[in-house]
Amino acid sequence: MWKILVIHGPNLNLLGTREPEIYGSMTLDKINSIIEKRATEAGISVDFQQTNYEGAMVELIQSAGAQGYAFIILNAAAFTHYSIAVRDAIAAIDVPVIEVHLSNIHQREEFRHMSVIAPVALGQICGFGVDSYMAALEVIIRRLKGEEDDMD
Ligand code: DQA
Repeated sequence: MWKILVIHGPNLNLLGTREPEIYGSMTLDKINSIIEKRATEAGISVDFQQTNYEGAMVELIQSAGAQGYAFIILNAAAFTHYSIAVRDAIAAIDVPVIEVHLSNIHQREEFRHMSVIAPVALGQICGFGVDSYMAALEVIIRRLKGEEDDMD
């Protein structure tokens, strides 16, 4: 069975109460359960991690290959904008990483427009709330099922 890893970065443990006008009112547990339901339906196993620590995120990314994950969905949160350590960890592994954000980082403060991880990610999906994660998951499902070229 294919397995994937979802990593949520700093302050995402506060979803539900954290700036709901930006991030919505869904808790992280709810987001995870929505992702898990679709993954299970597609026959993919999914693990979830949340960390507020940069080094812990680096270690999760580093160990993902050895642990047999086929893909990582990563919301690096604030680390997105400045963590060269997270960027280098992504560049160091063979596991493809899809960068996601709940909010549209390009419509927000200028410091959020820059993602240091985008150049080493497979792609970036932002601005769709929980559906940013779901869109990343659909890409993964299609790739794992070898359907990415089957657009007829
Ligand atoms: C975020 C956007 C980041 O700029 C911010 O620091 C976050 C969350 C998002 O999901 O919209 O913590 O990654």
